[in-house]
Amino acid sequence: MKPPPASGLLFCIFAAVGLFYSVIPRSPIHDVQRRQINSSQKYSGGIGTKMTVLPSWYISENDTVEINCFMHTDTSNKSDKMDLQLVWTSLHTKTKKVLMSQRASIGIFYVLNPVTHEHQGVYTCRGDGSLPDIYVHTWHYFIWVDADSSPPASIDVISHNRSQFANREEFTIGCQLPDDNNQWKMMRFDSWVGTIAECPNQVTSDRHLSCTSRSALPWADDLYWCESAAGDRTNALNVTTTVVMVVLETPTLPVWEGNNVTLRCLYRNRTTKEFTTKFRTVFYKDDRLKFVTNGASVTLPSVTKADEGLYKCRHPEEGLSPIRWIGVKARPDVAQKSDVLHQSSTRTL
Ligand SMILES: *[C@@H]1O[C@H](CO)[C@@H](O)[C@H](O)[C@H]1NC(C)=O
Ligand SMILES: *[C@@H]1O[C@H](CO)[C@@H](O)[C@H](O)[C@H]1NC(C)=O
Ligand SMILES: *[C@@H]1O[C@H](CO)[C@@H](O)[C@H](O)[C@H]1NC(C)=O
Ligand SMILES: *[C@@H]1O[C@H](CO)[C@@H](O)[C@H](O)[C@H]1NC(C)=O
Ligand SMILES: *[C@@H]1O[C@H](CO)[C@@H](O)[C@H](O)[C@H]1NC(C)=O
Ligand SMILES: *[C@@H]1O[C@H](CO)[C@@H](O)[C@H](O)[C@H]1NC(C)=O
Ligand SMILES: *[C@@H]1O[C@H](CO)[C@@H](O)[C@H](O)[C@H]1NC(C)=O
Repeated sequence: MKPPPASGLLFCIFAAVGLFYSVIPRSPIHDVQRRQINSSQKYSGGIGTKMTVLPSWYISENDTVEINCFMHTDTSNKSDKMDLQLVWTSLHTKTKKVLMSQRASIGIFYVLNPVTHEHQGVYTCRGDGSLPDIYVHTWHYFIWVDADSSPPASIDVISHNRSQFANREEFTIGCQLPDDNNQWKMMRFDSWVGTIAECPNQVTSDRHLSCTSRSALPWADDLYWCESAAGDRTNALNVTTTVVMVVLETPTLPVWEGNNVTLRCLYRNRTTKEFTTKFRTVFYKDDRLKFVTNGASVTLPSVTKADEGLYKCRHPEEGLSPIRWIGVKARPDVAQKSDVLHQSSTRTL
């Protein structure tokens, strides 16, 4: 859900959106404003909003979150001005609310402090519709407040050992449910259009709920979770789908301290659609070069909190995969054990 910062990328978005809208029928997407564009004309540039959510959109209760919403343009036409709105769609009630309106020249700065579970939902930075003849790209962020206790049900990708998928690749996500009641649904936040909807064609059997999807968009950073009619939820699962031919295979859920974690870089052949892993790969952590391997995979032995971060890999000709967060959780039993060891060694001294 990180918006690409460069205006070159913004242009790619417009190009991709242009392509997307020209190949599928226009659907009534609420927050995307676009009037008739003569399809034989090239975009001369684009206008969009840009949004940042700091420190992260995936946070814990009582954290502080800053939301920034700006106008962003890659045209040199300085008279293209619009006013901005920050709109919130509540996860609980699904209602929309304009949180703030502001002149584009000033931008919106909005703070949630302290964050509660009630603040969860989709935050949209959009124009006010005053540029009717121009396509305005709108950013959406889902602010997810992590469950403070262990959630009653769990979610994971079941068809693959990864959560990055190439364009039109099919994948299945499943939830393990606590009981046989079938009041659970799998939900999906679509970062491209900013909507929350039920994952289509869900199958439930024997305390297991699954949903098979296939991405059709240029790229998306989506969020999946299961929720019950009573309001119970699993944690959220990040899923990235991308048009690039390189994806990174990592654990899909946060790992325990002490685990060995294998990262694998996969390249998808454009013709055969098969994935290969035999190439010289460069792995990056937090934008810094970390490993170079010949077999496309690398293992982080016995990970610690210091291994936590954003990873990506590079294929020699095809370039970079999307980034992927690897979270490392402290093992509560290990912490107790080292406490005991510490005490006993103190005693012998
Ligand atoms: C689209 O633009 C081209 C070139 O500017 C023009 O020749 C054509 O008539 C336009 N088509 C429509 C449907 O407006
Ligand atoms: C957040 O703050 C409230 C009120 O101070 C407290 O009751 C609650 O336990 C806190 N939650 C967490 C996860 O620290
Ligand atoms: C610049 O934007 C204004 C307002 O949207 C529009 O009227 C004008 O034609 C644009 N100029 C150019 C050169 O595109
Ligand atoms: C996922 O990883 C496990 C353990 O490495 C392996 O046994 C399994 O075949 C993998 N599954 C897929 C779909 O790649
Ligand atoms: C990690 O790998 C090392 C070396 O291969 C092995 O000895 C150890 O048991 C592995 N640890 C876990 C938690 O699998
Ligand atoms: C993709 O697969 C085809 C058929 O096996 C092969 O000829 C081609 O070289 C492959 N392309 C790349 C970039 O590896
Ligand atoms: C999802 O991605 C965000 C941003 O990269 C990260 O902060 C968060 O921890 C991830 N969530 C999980 C469960 O991996």
